[in-house]
Amino acid sequence: MRRATGEAPGRINLIGEHTDYNDGLVLPVALGLGVTVVARPRDNRTAHLVTDADVEPRETSYIVGAERSDGTWADRARGVTAALLGRGAPVDGFEAEISSTLPLGAGLGSSAALAVALVRALRELFDLTLDDGEIATVAHAAETEFVGARAGLMDQLASIYGRRSEALLIDLHDLSRVAVALPGELELAVIDSGTRHQHATGGYNRRREECEEAARHLGVGSLRDLEDRRLEDVLERLPPPLDRRVRHVLTENTRVRDAIAALRAADLSRLGALLDSSHRSLRDDYEVSTAELDRLVDLARDDRAVRGARLVGGGFGGSVLALTERGEARSAAERILRRYDRGRLVAVVP
Ligand code: GLA
Repeated sequence: MRRATGEAPGRINLIGEHTDYNDGLVLPVALGLGVTVVARPRDNRTAHLVTDADVEPRETSYIVGAERSDGTWADRARGVTAALLGRGAPVDGFEAEISSTLPLGAGLGSSAALAVALVRALRELFDLTLDDGEIATVAHAAETEFVGARAGLMDQLASIYGRRSEALLIDLHDLSRVAVALPGELELAVIDSGTRHQHATGGYNRRREECEEAARHLGVGSLRDLEDRRLEDVLERLPPPLDRRVRHVLTENTRVRDAIAALRAADLSRLGALLDSSHRSLRDDYEVSTAELDRLVDLARDDRAVRGARLVGGGFGGSVLALTERGEARSAAERILRRYDRGRLVAVVP
C-alpha cells in the first residue's frame, strides 16, 4: 500500500522571545529531535492517528471534513486537515503513525513540528501542491484557528527552514531569513524543567492581546513600528503593565541584533550576558517565567561552566538554555540537574 513519510524538527530559540507576533526578530536553531509521521490512505474519509508519545489518547479517529476540537494533542491534526480542506486541497481519509523524539509541551516547538510533519506526509500522500511557505501557513492555521493558541510564526518557520548547525535570523516584519553560523566555541544545554505550559489556557494569548492593546494605544500597526522612537518616550505613554510588556519586546529585538554581533565575534561572554538579560526581561517585564524556570536558570548561572541562561519558547513552564564552551554543556547540565529534582537534559546543541 502507498505510504508517505513527513519529518520535522523541533527548535530552540537562541534569543528573541515573544517578538514574532510583534513583527520582530527571532534567532532559532533546529534540534536533532523532531516528529515523524508515516501516513497511508484509508477509506471512509476517516483519519486514524496513533502516537508513541506519552500523551492521552494514544489513538484517536475523526472524519476528515468534520473536524471538531476535543482539546487534546490530536486537535493539531484536525487543524491541519481543516486548514488544507479550507484551501481546497483534496485530502481524504488516512492512517497516521506519529513518533516523536521531541518532548511535548517543553517549549521546543513540538506543536509546530507535529503539524509540519503531518502536512509534509499528507502532501506526498495526496499529491498536494504546497511550497514551504504554504506548509508554514497551514501548520500555523492549525494552531491559531483550530487549537486557539494565537501563536506567532516562529516555530513553523524554524521547523521548515532551520538547520542544526546554524542559527536562523528571521525578521517577521518581512519574513526575510539570514543564516548566522554558530561559533565553534559555543555549546548549549537544553534542559526540560519537567513543568508543562498550556498556550491556549495560559497567559500566552493574554500577552499577545496586551501587545495589540499597546500598539492601538500608541497608534501603530505593530510594536516593530516603534523602533525609531526613544524607549522612554514610548513607555511613558503606556499604563502598567503595558509599559513593561512593550519594554520587553523592544529591548528583546535589540538583544537579538546584539546577539548576532556576539555570534559573529565569537564573544561567548557577551552572548551569555544577553541570554541572562533576556531571561530577566521575560521574568520581570513580560512575566512569563515560573518558579521552576527561575530556579533552573539560577542554578545554571551558579555553575562554573555556564556563561548565560534563560527560559526558551513561550514560557509558563518548558525548558531552559544554558550556554557553555564547546565540550562543557553535558557535564554542566549534569551538575545543574543534581540540584534540581525533576528536569532532564533534552539536547546538547549543536
Ligand atoms: C511559542 C510560540 C511562538 C513564539 C514563542 C515565544 O513558541 O509558538 O510563536 O511566540 O512562544 O517566543
